[in-house]
Amino acid sequence: MNHEPIVEAKDLVKDYPKKEGFLIERRVGWNRVVDGVSFTLLPGETLSLVGESGCGKTVVARMVMTLVKPTAGTILFRGDDVFRCSPQTLREYRRTVHLVYQNPLLSLNPRRTVGESIALPIRNFGLYNTAKERAMRVAEVLETVGLNGMYANRYPHEFSGGQIQRVGIARGLASGAQVFVLDEPVSALDVSIQAQILNLLRDLKESLGLTMLFIGNNLNVIQHVADRIVVLCHGRMIEVGPTSSVFAHPLHPHTRRLLDAILSVDRAHRASTGPVARGGEVAMGREPAIGCSYAEDCPQACGECRSAVPQLRTIEAEHSVACHQIEPLTHSTKECADE
Ligand SMILES: Nc1ncnc2c1ncn2[C@@H]1O[C@H](COP(=O)(O)OP(=O)(O)O)[C@@H](O)[C@H]1O
Ligand code: SF4
Ligand SMILES: [Mg+2]
Repeated sequence: MNHEPIVEAKDLVKDYPKKEGFLIERRVGWNRVVDGVSFTLLPGETLSLVGESGCGKTVVARMVMTLVKPTAGTILFRGDDVFRCSPQTLREYRRTVHLVYQNPLLSLNPRRTVGESIALPIRNFGLYNTAKERAMRVAEVLETVGLNGMYANRYPHEFSGGQIQRVGIARGLASGAQVFVLDEPVSALDVSIQAQILNLLRDLKESLGLTMLFIGNNLNVIQHVADRIVVLCHGRMIEVGPTSSVFAHPLHPHTRRLLDAILSVDRAHRASTGPVARGGEVAMGREPAIGCSYAEDCPQACGECRSAVPQLRTIEAEHSVACHQIEPLTHSTKECADE
């Protein structure tokens, strides 16, 4: 694997105004919804951003896509800052990095055939000159994602949930995207359809060498797709590591809770055929934590946890955790001195 990152997120921070008032709103402060998120996307790897609803995953994805400007920090594309680069580099970045939404219908014009929607980025990036060449490319990418090329003439509402997700992926392939940012791409689908889309993504990754930032809140799904995992809690990174290591030795109490949730879902799932349930939701709109972002919910929290933000520290090869009480090498928890 080439170890030069294609995309690098550096210390991303996003603040949104905190407002009060019913008819006349006024700003009363700021909510820090993303706080110091950094990661690299290496060619051909799948990195997963995991966390409960409201922890900042979509805001990170939107910053990666340059749809939202970070309050601080930046995104590098092969070393260039995408918020300060030349228009040519930004254009190349936008062709290379493609966003797949949880609900691709939101990104498709209902009055255009899917063929027209897929052809649009091809045209915008000036990739194929004639309508015939573009039509051939559209049919080719539809077939690559397992759909009939003739479906190009259909409208979005004529597709099922799984098929429309395939169309969203085809749209990125059409303009030659190499990096796919997938924001909960299977959360809204039935389990059997989820598996088909995950298999498709795995096949595309192998055959085309795609790089993926896979966002989700279901560790069951993430276990099957991710090479590395970043766990977020209230906008902060709390654990980072290779998927096998995070699943075998989850270090942070919040990661352990997320894993416990999927084990209990597994037990329930054996008795049902319904969709995989999600983990719990984090409380929205909380005050930014002065100390550990998980202190309010952590059974091990002590005074230090409430007064100082724990920094990510490497505990074992490439596996880091942000917790005051986990010691390197031993993985043991230390005694809390101040309580
Ligand atoms: N445009 C916005 N204005 C204000 N707050 C926002 C905006 N977008 C997201 N947020 C807040 O940021 C937090 C993280 O949101 P989001 O990234 O969508 O969470 P996730 O994708 O992990 O469920 C939430 O509390 C959400 O309400
Ligand atoms: S730093 Fe403290 S509150 Fe945070 S996870 Fe560790 S023990 Fe719990
Ligand atoms: Mg989201």
